[in-house]
Amino acid sequence: MLQARDLYRFFHAGDDETFALRGVSLDVRGGEIVAVVGPSGSGKSTLLHCLAGLDEPDGGSVTVAGRQITRRGEGTRAELRARSIGVLLQSGNLLEHLSVADNIGIARALAGRTDRAAVQLLDEVGLEGRANASPSTLSGGEAARAGLAVALANDPPVLLADEPTGEVDEGNEGLILELLRRRADSGSALVIVTHSERVASEADRVVRLVDGTVVDG
Ligand SMILES: Nc1ncnc2c1ncn2[C@@H]1O[C@H](COP(=O)(O)OP(=O)(O)OP(=O)(O)O)[C@@H](O)[C@H]1O
Ligand SMILES: [Mg+2]
Repeated sequence: MLQARDLYRFFHAGDDETFALRGVSLDVRGGEIVAVVGPSGSGKSTLLHCLAGLDEPDGGSVTVAGRQITRRGEGTRAELRARSIGVLLQSGNLLEHLSVADNIGIARALAGRTDRAAVQLLDEVGLEGRANASPSTLSGGEAARAGLAVALANDPPVLLADEPTGEVDEGNEGLILELLRRRADSGSALVIVTHSERVASEADRVVRLVDGTVVDG
């Protein structure tokens, strides 16, 4: 469902060069949860952004549901993302001036859908009473689950999540884990960047990054 081949990503700041990814390959099948772990700065978010087509690697390629997303124009990448990829970033997943339900509605509209499925999604993430809430009024756990609802708005075959349980308590972590497992059971491929031992232990496979290289898994 998701293939990354030999990804390289370098960043330059003046004369300084950061090698964020040095030849990372990854294969994730439908139904599988892969956890990406590693120290801060090891390249986890950079990898996720490249997989999502939010960043363009300097080398290598990414294929999602049979279509290459690297080295494609902005429009093609956006269309592929809207159709096939749910993305939960480390922060900034909700538009502040829209209600929770409208955040889901916008995500669906970007994929050309105009029906209203927000109710069912909010139910799925346990936020049925918060449809009209403004994001700024949500607790950390609620905001994480609302972000996840937006990422799942188009029932994507691939879900990429950067620290989905980073800001939440144990109870919410359990809820989110159950939700992720249900997605995998329904056939989606999941890549979850995490610092949580519990999340990593629930994954089918753990990929460990150190200095932009896969060292394990
Ligand atoms: N846009 C950028 N410009 C310059 N350097 C960057 C950029 N994005 C990432 N880096 C650098 O690339 C390296 C990998 O960063 P990345 O954010 O992928 O790490 P991470 O594993 O997600 O860390 P964390 O666990 O703290 O979220 C770091 O050294 C970081 O400073
Ligand atoms: Mg990160």
